Amino acid sequence: MIGIIGSGTMGSGIAQIASTNGHKVVLFDSSSEALKNSKEKLEKILDRLVEKEKITSQESQEILARISFSTNLKDIKDSELVIEAIIEDLEVKKSVFNKIENEVSDECIIASNTSSLSIASIASACKKSERVIGIHFFNPAPIMPLVEIIPAVQTSQETLQEAKNIIDSWGKTTVIAKDTPGFIVNRVARPFYGEALRIYEEGIADFATIDWAMKEIGGFRMGPFELMDYIGNDVNYMVTETVFSSFYYDPRYKPSFTQKRMMEAGFLGRKSGKGYYDYSQEEKAKPTKDRDEGKKIVWRILAMLINEASDALFLKIATRDDIDLAMTKGVNYPKGLLSWADEIGVDNVLKILEELQKEYCEDRYRPSPLLKRMVTMKKTFY
Ligand code: NAI
Repeated sequence: MIGIIGSGTMGSGIAQIASTNGHKVVLFDSSSEALKNSKEKLEKILDRLVEKEKITSQESQEILARISFSTNLKDIKDSELVIEAIIEDLEVKKSVFNKIENEVSDECIIASNTSSLSIASIASACKKSERVIGIHFFNPAPIMPLVEIIPAVQTSQETLQEAKNIIDSWGKTTVIAKDTPGFIVNRVARPFYGEALRIYEEGIADFATIDWAMKEIGGFRMGPFELMDYIGNDVNYMVTETVFSSFYYDPRYKPSFTQKRMMEAGFLGRKSGKGYYDYSQEEKAKPTKDRDEGKKIVWRILAMLINEASDALFLKIATRDDIDLAMTKGVNYPKGLLSWADEIGVDNVLKILEELQKEYCEDRYRPSPLLKRMVTMKKTFY
């Protein structure tokens, strides 16, 4: 049995995955209203899957029947794994972990789906902290293949292996990340937004042109501004700010005033009808399709992304393969950043970064020591 704590966006999605994979699921929330909404949404999603002939109506009924919706925490007592997906607040999470531990058996693994909090600090709320781990799904959980598994300093090898086995058995692509801010994806992806915003702020190009270049020339599925509008400028800004402060204000992760003002103005993106684009207008803002200028934009953002991926490898946040898998399976990048670096030449990436650093004299553009070593030693990532 799998226990899920919090029946919001993520908890509901994870419950759907666990049940689809044959587990009995107890979905707990302190709010009965939230449980009601979760059930209704899940019914709609399953109906749609039946319509699309992805599952039969019998399977849909079985998936729903395996999930019990509960406001009584005692109902999770038979769980082999509990995944917490409540609000992103350390003190609340710690108190909930303490309560979970009082209900479940000694063998039960307790995991958090947190995006930004340290797993070590959450685990410290439990007596048997070696059974606590981070299991980070991406939104929408049933669709995105990637799951980051984050052992804390307290986590035992058995807990790590067992948690990974369960999530792998659900058909997910798992990667193992060090318990550091942003794990892999939310750290390595920062320049996709940050450098695009910087390019806009310098007046080099407008939102539509940067998005066009990244899609048309870079091969990304969505442009940075479209993606920020989709994620929500409030959510995306908060992630950036958390990563920035968690890294002791490393200028590489500095948030942007442009995005902050958008958030303050309530221009959150698709959900508010207006963000970088105005969704009430039929016609979308038009890009200036100059391929040479477009290439410069793509190379600058890509060099910053590769620098981040390289530094993550340098600091052993994850393995080379897991860093590349994380970006293709978690945020749909067209290629893994490290194999992309090999393709365009590590020396070319370093050159762009060194030129940016020379021009701006900002630590933001400092090349990863690994990139420099590789160029000196004429090495490639693969
Ligand atoms: P949400 O706001 O949609 O849902 C949170 C749910 O937790 C609500 O139903 C609320 O009633 C319940 N809750 C709050 N406090 C509780 C408590 N003390 N006990 C029991 N239930 C409680 O939040 P969402 O977006 O699902 O996020 C949940 C977690 O997942 C957060 O840690 C977030 O950082 C993380 N996450 C979110 C992603 C996203 O894109 N939304 C992606 C990956 C991780």
